[in-house]
Amino acid sequence: MLNPHAPLPRHVAIIMDGNGRWAKRRGLPRIEGHRKGADSVRDVVRASRELGLRALTLYAFSSQNWDRPMEEVRALMELLRDYLVEERTEILENEIRLETIGDRTRLPEFVRGPLEDLIRDSAENDKMTLCLALSYGGRESLAAAARRLAEAVVAGELLPSDIDVRNFGQELSTRMLPELDLVIRTSGEQRLSNFLLWEAAYAELYFTDTLWPDFSRATLYQAIESFQGRERRFGLTSEQVRLRRL
Ligand code: IPE
Ligand code: IPE
Ligand code: MG
Repeated sequence: MLNPHAPLPRHVAIIMDGNGRWAKRRGLPRIEGHRKGADSVRDVVRASRELGLRALTLYAFSSQNWDRPMEEVRALMELLRDYLVEERTEILENEIRLETIGDRTRLPEFVRGPLEDLIRDSAENDKMTLCLALSYGGRESLAAAARRLAEAVVAGELLPSDIDVRNFGQELSTRMLPELDLVIRTSGEQRLSNFLLWEAAYAELYFTDTLWPDFSRATLYQAIESFQGRERRFGLTSEQVRLRRL
């Protein structure tokens, strides 16, 4: 049961893993796992919106996933396009803003078209931000930020000694999202796989053995329940944290 008196995470990010294993266990091709996984995405977006989360980031495709077999990459891109086309109305009706992080230029045109339309048409929505991590890598994103700051230094707009946590964070594509509170990873793996490396600095981590296609509203609630039961200290002592809450 969620605790109505404890705060909800503002921003939840999910590493949606285990589609391939879900299919393999059933003797099905991997793509069937991805197809079933798309249904979990629909459920979780709906549940997050109803709960009142401010932002939900979903790791849908990593920079490294481009190296998977060509047919699997193609199938994932087609599923992504189908998702964008089929969910467009629901996203707009629920006043959800769609955003992405990652290298959008690498996506095929048949994905970029519907994706960019929906980003544009949902830009004024403010009930929740749904951020899709597509062709995303945390290290790639940090390197890009460092590159932009270096360019600003060379252009004489910034001194190296001016670079700090605040302006570095402002160079990241996640700057438009609230602070990351909770990272969930499915399928039993306990690693970040190049996801939100900077942003997860003080996020709570939640690992579940549930494979992504079996993930449901109930699993999301379990993760949030676990989050609500934790004390986030941000380097302070427990006593300091409790005093601040009074
Ligand atoms: C997650 O499921 C989906 C993507 C990474 C695109 P996987 O395809 O990684 O499933 P497993 O890990 O092989 O079971
Ligand atoms: C992470 O899953 C990427 C996504 C969920 C999109 P992977 O299946 O690619 O991660 P590894 O290879 O197990 O670390
Ligand atoms: Mg995997």
